[in-house]
Amino acid sequence: MLGAGAMGCLFATALHRSDCATTLLLRASDGRETVQVVVERHGRSTTIELPAASVAARGPISHLLVTTKAYDAHHAIATIAHRLRHDSKVLLMMNGMGLADELRADFPQLHIYSGTTTEGAYRLAPLHVRHAGQGHTRIGQPGTTTPPAWFHQWSRAVAACQWDGNIEEALWLKLAINCAINPLTAVYACRNGELASRPELAARVDQLCDEIALISSAAGQPRVATGLRRSVAQVIAATADNRSSMLQDVQDGRRTEVDYITGYLLNTARDFGIPAPHNAALLESIQKIDR
Ligand code: PAF
Repeated sequence: MLGAGAMGCLFATALHRSDCATTLLLRASDGRETVQVVVERHGRSTTIELPAASVAARGPISHLLVTTKAYDAHHAIATIAHRLRHDSKVLLMMNGMGLADELRADFPQLHIYSGTTTEGAYRLAPLHVRHAGQGHTRIGQPGTTTPPAWFHQWSRAVAACQWDGNIEEALWLKLAINCAINPLTAVYACRNGELASRPELAARVDQLCDEIALISSAAGQPRVATGLRRSVAQVIAATADNRSSMLQDVQDGRRTEVDYITGYLLNTARDFGIPAPHNAALLESIQKIDR
């Protein structure tokens, strides 16, 4: 697997513990054949020894889980492309949309799957994560209703993990929620809950939601559009004390994933000729912070 952030560590250790041979691919493995990953859960800390290898290692990869940042994934996959076979399965688990289509165009031989999760996990230090709350994980491939054989390993390893025959809808809903919450929290340096408790920010969330709903509908996702304001309000309430992933990226000096979140939304809006000035203004503000 590629990507040793919070979600990567969480899923890699879960798969490893359910006897699925899992190797963490590291940019600089320094010759290490294993790494120790620490997972904290309910106040208890568990150390798991995971097989590791350099991205430069040889040997075919039949199944690849990618949990890098969206903007790193294409390059990371290109680095190990020589190890992927004509029928390798690649599962993308990251924020944002657009990457799967880019990869299908550039690596047409690969079988690309996408996943989205509400698992709560954050990184305390390199290879050290806290699993803060159990969520729901959905995995799928556009047009594929029956889960492939490899999915059974996932359903055994990861609690509340389901095959989703309509994964595009789940990805669009996640995108819509991320568009409404993440850039605003990053610009105002506020926790998610302030988007509901500060009236001026709540009004901006509503303006964003109205644009996002129109774009989602045009993109063939009317169920995402219906009740979007309510869905966003629920996520804000459930994550009120959290710093969004985009705010964390900005505060930690990392590049944000805005191009794959609001950027993807605005590309879709452009395709359908839908004006989206509120989202466009936010994208511009984040891009100024980013570069
Ligand atoms: O990206 C995030 O931070 C999360 O997806 C969400 C749901 C916006 C909560 O903070």
